Amino acid sequence: MKLASRTTRITPSPTLQLSATVKALVAQGQRVFDFTAGEPSFDSPDAAKQAAVNAIQAGFTKYTAVTGIDELKDAIIEKFQTDQGLTYSRSQIVVSCGAKHTLFNLALALFEVGDEVIIPSPYWVSYPEQILVADATPVFLPTSEANNFAIDISALKAIITEQTKAIILNSPCNPTGSMYDRETLEGIAALAIQHNLLVISDEIYEKMIYDDHQHCSIATVNPDMVHHTVIVNGVSKTYSMTGWRIGYAAGPEPILKAMGNIQSQSTSNPTSIAQKAAVGALQGGSQFIAHMVKELNVRRRAIVEGFNRISGIHCPMPAGAFYAFPNVTKLLGRRFQGKALATPFDLADFLLNEAKVACVPGEPFGANSHLRFSYTGPLTVIEEGIHQLATAIERLQ
Ligand SMILES: Cc1ncc(COP(=O)(O)O)c(C=O)c1O
Repeated sequence: MKLASRTTRITPSPTLQLSATVKALVAQGQRVFDFTAGEPSFDSPDAAKQAAVNAIQAGFTKYTAVTGIDELKDAIIEKFQTDQGLTYSRSQIVVSCGAKHTLFNLALALFEVGDEVIIPSPYWVSYPEQILVADATPVFLPTSEANNFAIDISALKAIITEQTKAIILNSPCNPTGSMYDRETLEGIAALAIQHNLLVISDEIYEKMIYDDHQHCSIATVNPDMVHHTVIVNGVSKTYSMTGWRIGYAAGPEPILKAMGNIQSQSTSNPTSIAQKAAVGALQGGSQFIAHMVKELNVRRRAIVEGFNRISGIHCPMPAGAFYAFPNVTKLLGRRFQGKALATPFDLADFLLNEAKVACVPGEPFGANSHLRFSYTGPLTVIEEGIHQLATAIERLQ
């Protein structure tokens, strides 16, 4: 049977694949220092778990409205009002099975053959793949570590064409941990309005911010921008609820309506119980966030300082999210048992085999000089893992 050509355009999620490899090694009894997971190691908040238990006991286990229950939409509307000062109505919100699903609905609702979608690089692995599934073309906007992975407005302007339909922003960013400041967002907003582009603003890490950095949503930088922005968010990262699968979008009603129609013919509603859990988290999880971010901050410092003590590695301090993105250019080309480690992929493979340290190579994020380490695990694992890694690197020639 010949498969549809779109299946050959995309590759499976490398991060999920790597996590599966690590789980298999652990199941065989091996000790692995796992830095691959894109999820916090914390339990979900009690407020979420209790709301789910209550939902089950109350028999809230049937289909719901396709785009989410009113109670959850209202909690999301309240969140946008409180955090961003943005006012949305229920018809401008769609709740889906995780933010990845939200973005997928959005890609199918917006993009088709001939459309170009701009993605700043390095980027989250699923953006280009979802655009390809929707038959459109991802166009990458390179950014540099020397410039804190910031967007250069003139470089952005130079790649906008008649075919450009949207730009995807992710601040704080997976994998770099960098954030866009207000001035940059204002520059992007001006171009979006001038060229009638949509900005897809993936704000899933909005609460994971350190030091005195501040999150700014592009939808808020001028009064017109809310009409040019779809904000994507969810409970996966903010409340350590990755398994519950609840993401959501807010934006112009016609786009959200189209996303809801697509969802109505694919998954229908996200799980009823998980929706109730998300209400619990949004209404009762603020202390949980404060505790988690405080802990993550300790881990962030430990891993970045650990990397910067290793000769050949340079690691910038991330402003947000929970990933360290060390630059390993100086290690590339070194040899182990006669074989050159030419790429981040080779280096990650070496670290898994020789140090039992699992990380994600930069290539699937569009980065050929970096590795991505998630620092969501316990501090002891971070410290021991970095030690193992440093010892393995000393063996390179
Ligand atoms: C930038 C970014 N957006 C979206 C998602 C998807 O999150 P969810 O678990 O809600 O599907 C992730 C998860 O890794 C992510 O890193």
